[in-house]
Amino acid sequence: MGAKGTFKIQIFLSCILLFGTMATKSLEIGYYRCTNTCPQAEEIVKGIVYKYVLQNPGLGAGLIRMFFHDCFVRGCDASILLDKSSHNPNPEKLAVPNNHSLRGFEVIDEAKSAVEHVCPGVVSCADIIAFAARDATYFLGKISYEIPSGRLDGRISIADEVKALPSPFHNLTVVKALFAAQGLSADDVVILSGAHSIGRSHCSSFRRRLYPVIDPTMDQKFGYFLRTKCPENAPVDGVVLQDFVTPSKLDTRYYRNVAELKGLFFSDWSLLTSSETVNLVHDFRTTPQHFETKFAESMVKMGNILMLPGTKGEIRKSCRAVNY
Ligand code: HEM
Ligand SMILES: *[C@@H]1O[C@H](CO)[C@@H](O)[C@H](O)[C@H]1NC(C)=O
Ligand SMILES: *[C@@H]1O[C@H](CO)[C@@H](O)[C@H](O)[C@H]1NC(C)=O
Repeated sequence: MGAKGTFKIQIFLSCILLFGTMATKSLEIGYYRCTNTCPQAEEIVKGIVYKYVLQNPGLGAGLIRMFFHDCFVRGCDASILLDKSSHNPNPEKLAVPNNHSLRGFEVIDEAKSAVEHVCPGVVSCADIIAFAARDATYFLGKISYEIPSGRLDGRISIADEVKALPSPFHNLTVVKALFAAQGLSADDVVILSGAHSIGRSHCSSFRRRLYPVIDPTMDQKFGYFLRTKCPENAPVDGVVLQDFVTPSKLDTRYYRNVAELKGLFFSDWSLLTSSETVNLVHDFRTTPQHFETKFAESMVKMGNILMLPGTKGEIRKSCRAVNY
């Protein structure tokens, strides 16, 4: 009996905990397992994320960024996924920070249809984004954590509200204030910015640091290199890797890049402008082991950003449209 019995009791207890706190509507680890509404949900999402990230690690970066852009606007409610429609004529996904740069929508679509096939109508798109970002973090960074679930999908998506997101041209004061508005600290700014160790950026996100002069806050040789990738009057918006050394590894290389003035964005450089943030940059640069747990914790924290009070949620049938 021993070991097996203990294991059963543990599952039992974690689910008691779930029902104990349901009244406060907080999220719970293993929500779909504990409620027995879709025990396989997380495994199904993981399989699909794995398939795509294996083909193209950039999609993993896209999914982690999607989670951030979803959670900062109306909470983690999958508002980022809604297509333009009569309900939402100007959705978030068409706003400048997202249009043409956010990616991974096809991964979410496929995960949603796979989950719907097995347990129709119970798993929210908002949770699928959270699971997918968690799985991408594991595949690209070998950082593993459990992410509470039980979110609902929102019905509203408004392009103008993406102003809640920090811009690459913001200074630290503004970035910190935008994070604070979401209940996130200066440490969270530093920790989560570590995601700029993977994926890509369009030239338009940093071109003004290259012309007419290379920003003195940027390593000048790096600036000349970026000029070759992003010519001044290029007809198309090119892309460059965020981290030229280990582009598909979610590691602490970002902090070294920032410290060496080789971060792409002004907002990256700005982490060096206050003792509140620069110390952590140097800590992660010199002691990479400190990063993994912190990153996991901050992702969970970001995932706890709730929908606006009084907002009505639902489980969408299609992640791209509200239910009728
Ligand atoms: C601190 C404020 C932040 C600013 C100003 C910022 C800004 C940006 C910008 C401008 C890009 C390039 C987009 C493009 O041109 O294609 C980018 C990419 C990215 N960001 Fe951030 N970001 C911030 C924080 C975060 C956070 C909190 C996360 C997630 C934890 C994140 C994850 C990513 C990822 C993974 C990419 C690469 C996306 C891809 O390859 O598709 N960023 N970010
Ligand atoms: C988003 O991209 C589409 C397709 O290129 C374009 O037609 C539209 O004007 C863009 N939306 C905004 C708000 O920039
Ligand atoms: C940061 O940017 C804001 C808005 O542009 C500006 O008001 C503020 O003075 C800036 N702060 C610093 C320390 O540069």
